[in-house]
Amino acid sequence: MYHSFDAIVVGAGGAGLRAALELGRSGSVAVLTKLYPTRSHTGTAQGGIGAALGNVEEDLWEWHMFDTVKGGDYLTDQDAAEILAREAVDTVYELEHWGLPFDRTSDGKIAQRPFGGHTHHFGKGAVRRSCYAADRTGHMILQTLYQQCLRHSVQFFDEYHVVDLLIQDGVACGVVAYQILTGEFHTFRAKAVLLATGGMGRLFRITSNAHALTGDGPAMALRRGIPLEDMEFFQFHPTGIRKMGILITEAVRGEGGILLNDRGERFMERYSPTLLDLAPRDIVSRAIYLEVRNGLGIGGKDYVHLDATHLGRDVVESKLPDIADFCRTYLGIDPATEPMPVQPTAHYAMGGIPTDTDGRVIVDEKNTALPGLYAAGECACVSVHGANRLGTNSLVDLVVFGRRAGRDMARYVRENDFVALPPEPECEACDEAERLLKGTGQERVADIRQELQDLMMDDVGVFRVEEQIAGALSKIGELKSRYQKVALDDRGQKFNTELLEAIELGYLLDLAEVTAASALARQESRGAHSREDYPERDDDHWLKHTLAYQTGEGVELKYKPVSITRFEPKPRTY
Ligand code: FUM
Repeated sequence: MYHSFDAIVVGAGGAGLRAALELGRSGSVAVLTKLYPTRSHTGTAQGGIGAALGNVEEDLWEWHMFDTVKGGDYLTDQDAAEILAREAVDTVYELEHWGLPFDRTSDGKIAQRPFGGHTHHFGKGAVRRSCYAADRTGHMILQTLYQQCLRHSVQFFDEYHVVDLLIQDGVACGVVAYQILTGEFHTFRAKAVLLATGGMGRLFRITSNAHALTGDGPAMALRRGIPLEDMEFFQFHPTGIRKMGILITEAVRGEGGILLNDRGERFMERYSPTLLDLAPRDIVSRAIYLEVRNGLGIGGKDYVHLDATHLGRDVVESKLPDIADFCRTYLGIDPATEPMPVQPTAHYAMGGIPTDTDGRVIVDEKNTALPGLYAAGECACVSVHGANRLGTNSLVDLVVFGRRAGRDMARYVRENDFVALPPEPECEACDEAERLLKGTGQERVADIRQELQDLMMDDVGVFRVEEQIAGALSKIGELKSRYQKVALDDRGQKFNTELLEAIELGYLLDLAEVTAASALARQESRGAHSREDYPERDDDHWLKHTLAYQTGEGVELKYKPVSITRFEPKPRTY
């Protein structure tokens, strides 16, 4: 089946919808999503969206920019951080005017609370910058944007799984999608394509990411010769529900919750004397791992306690109602009266498809743009989060860079014509689906995925050393060979989720390979990339972005400089 639109958006999370809204006002746009739009993962973002509104105390966008740069351990591109911090203010008011039900101060302004790494006067102490709707901020953003998209005639193709990106003569010209209900392939022709497919947390055993977060956009781009940037930087959020990984928002600590070890000590006093429990996530996650390693996990096990019992039932029920429900549902505990068992959970990819600040995908160290191709949100790397993202900056990233990408796509669509599609655009995707459907080998998707997730969690996780990463890389190669021998039980056409999981596993394997190769090469510790064999940050050699290409001979790495405009790199203490 064949469709034609001015622009295609792949993914219906915050970035995709925010871009689609710009496009819907000026031309024909289709959003293709493998889920129903309101089930996109933006809906799980809990604690808030950061913007220097200064509603409850003085705040400046320059402080927000500084925190973003320092939080990212100076790998953050500072031109992007300036845009993020400046435009955050306007995009939050825009959401408010579209009806987003933010919590309010007593005088009716948008309420704000502290979050990790948010400071005033360039690091002097914590500031209240996170704008929130209880602990359902992402859910509210998603609903608000979806309503606006419907109002502006954006066309949705729900449960269409995009499986290939079409590029002809160096110009993006569409995508191929698999309709989950029927098993049919569809070609979507477009002048411009935005990849906004979200994260890839399913690379790891313990993750806050839903099952659908398999890095489809980055993997498809990689297979089309586009490099992935800074894939070695993967964020572990300090407080996932033990074993399950489900997020317990940082807002618990923003509201005054504290982390305790087995001795009942507030151990963050030792790791971050100024910001304590609200230090950036890489620091808090490492602190938890070190406590556990030193036998100070609860009962000597692999977790610590997050204690909110002193906050009072009113605060827990009104400011943190969802996490209170999660604790009752999944743990059978009441966080108003009992501490929560938490451990770091794989949460966010700082790396992804390289883009400029207008969302245009770039393909080399000279920042050459690939005409017609855009990326935004977690699947992209602007790079505004550098080596470690600050809490609440993901939601800002979605709306600020989603809007910028949408605006530039609208311009591109106006100025350019359709280009020819490749001959037989669906054939590669069809061949791969047929190979998987007809496979007669002995390998199972679930087994390979479990082994991959264990490997990444244990050997390319919070702490890393050369032997382990190198071992993981070679085992990923073995898993890729085994993947060629996968057999499926379901060989049918309709709602064949087993086939989709197999396709997603292929993506995860490719992404694991570039992640491990990038991590192996980077011989320093910076942000979320913590090499025990190279414990120091090394600006002389490694103040640069990685670009990882997939080649016939494995992963090829190139590097490009970091944009430094205002803040010279300094040691990072909190
Ligand atoms: O902890 C949280 O609420 C997560 C926020 C984020 O990842 O930005």
